[in-house]
Amino acid sequence: MINGVPQLEDLGDVAGKRVLVRCDFNVPIRDGVIADDLRIRAALPTLSWLQERGATVTACSHLGRPKGAPDPQYSMDPVRARLAELAPGVELLENLRFSPGETANDPAFVAELVAGQDLYVNDAFGASHRAHASIVGPPLTLPSAAGRLLEKEVEVLLGCRNEPRRPFISILGGSKVSDKLGVINAMLEVVDGLVIGGGMCFTFLAAQGHQVGSSLLEVDQIDTCRGLLDSGATIHLPSDVTALGPVDLDVEPGAFLVLVGASGCGKSTLLRLIAGFEEP
Ligand code: 3PG
Repeated sequence: MINGVPQLEDLGDVAGKRVLVRCDFNVPIRDGVIADDLRIRAALPTLSWLQERGATVTACSHLGRPKGAPDPQYSMDPVRARLAELAPGVELLENLRFSPGETANDPAFVAELVAGQDLYVNDAFGASHRAHASIVGPPLTLPSAAGRLLEKEVEVLLGCRNEPRRPFISILGGSKVSDKLGVINAMLEVVDGLVIGGGMCFTFLAAQGHQVGSSLLEVDQIDTCRGLLDSGATIHLPSDVTALGPVDLDVEPGAFLVLVGASGCGKSTLLRLIAGFEEP
C-alpha cells in the first residue's frame, strides 16, 4: 500500500488474469507522428510487471479532446504502433473519448470497459483528477491497484510536500488556472517560489494588466490570479513571452509561447522532473 492505495503486489497472483490498465498515452502527435513517446515509455514498468507474471494486458487511454465521437486526428493508431514495438502483446483500446460515456462517466460505458476483465490498474496520473468512466468506474467492481508510474508520482509528490529540500521551487504548467487552483494553493503552502508557465501564465499576466492578445485566457480567473499575486507569495511569471496575435496573423502557432527561465516547462518535462524518469 502507498498512502492507503493498493500497489501491484496487492493484486495477488495475476497469472492467467485479464488486466485493464488505464494509461495516460496523451502524447503529442504531429502529422500522424508521435513527437515525444515519453508517456508510453513511462508505462512500461507496469505493463511489463504484469506481463512477466502471466497476465493478459489491455491498455486504454484518451488522446486529445475529441468530442465523444470517432475523429481520425485523435486515433490511437500511432500510439498502438509504438506500443507494439515497446510492449508486444499489450492490446490497446481505441481512444476512450471517442465514446461520450467516458467523460460523462456513464455506467454503461464502464460496463463495456470492465467486461471480461479480472483486475484494474490505474497508471494514468495525469488523468486521475478526472471523474471519467475509465478512472472512477472500474475500481467499483474490479480489484484495483495503482501502477508503478502513479505510485512513483504519489511518492515523489508526498516527499515534496512532507519533507521538501530547500530552497523548494515548483514549476507549474498547463492551460487552465481553474483546473490547477487546488494545486497552486497547496504548493504555495510549502514552496519558496512558484514558477508559472504554460497556457495559464496568460491569465496571470492579464491580472498584472498585460495585453495577452488572443492567447488562452480565463477571464473569470483574473481576480483569483490577482489575489494570488497580491498575497505576498513568490510567484514568477515569464518575463519574455509572445502572446497570440490576431487569429488571422500568418505565423507558426508553435512559435508563440517562449518562456525564459521556464523554457520547456510543459507537462512532459514536469513528468520527468516529478517521476525522476531517465531518458534511455
Ligand atoms: C494531460 O495531458 O494533462 C492529461 O492527459 C489529461 O488530459 P486532459 O486535460 O485532456 O484530461
